[in-house]
Amino acid sequence: MEFEKLLDNRWSCRAFSDAPVPHEMVDKIIAAALKAPTARNIQNFMVWILSSKRAVEAVHASTRFTFGAPLFFLVGHREENAWVRGYDGHVFGDVDTSIVATHMMLEIADLGLGTTWVGSFDAPKLQGLLPETAGYELLALFPTGFPAAGAAPGPLHSVSKAPEQVSMEL
Ligand SMILES: Cc1cc2nc3c(=O)[nH]c(=O)nc-3n(C[C@H](O)[C@H](O)[C@H](O)COP(=O)(O)O)c2cc1C
Repeated sequence: MEFEKLLDNRWSCRAFSDAPVPHEMVDKIIAAALKAPTARNIQNFMVWILSSKRAVEAVHASTRFTFGAPLFFLVGHREENAWVRGYDGHVFGDVDTSIVATHMMLEIADLGLGTTWVGSFDAPKLQGLLPETAGYELLALFPTGFPAAGAAPGPLHSVSKAPEQVSMEL
């Protein structure tokens, strides 16, 4: 999809069909994550692809924002490996990982799948249920699948500030 159209057409999908996500699409989403820029190209992130019964149950126990998705991408990073800006000690782990997650979100939309960036989940609880994620900061969860019939953007989708509220010339 042309980039402008992709930006116009992306929306947070909150209702999914139970059709599985094809493996080739999962591969493309991981490839999009790997194309993301990160500080010093450190690629200090991990994506867990959650579709097993155990993993999906763990997600369901950790958030109400599951929307009937057949698959979840969980994105995290190891804070101690992140680039730190020498001038002020700012740690860029969340920044890098957010860029990676944004690439994934846009790739998901480009493939004709739906997703919503879910930040509201009980990360410590999920970590306890999925010990493979221990030691990582868990930043984003993406319920992913084909949109259910009748799925539509939520009311906040069309709310936007004006350009002059978010930018200024100096
Ligand atoms: C960092 C972040 C966290 C979010 N967390 C949630 C969430 O926990 N649950 C949810 O339903 N939507 C969540 N969203 C989706 C936003 O509510 C949504 O992007 C916003 O309302 C604009 O709608 P749109 O994506 O359809 O344009 C989150 C989005 C971002 C970027």
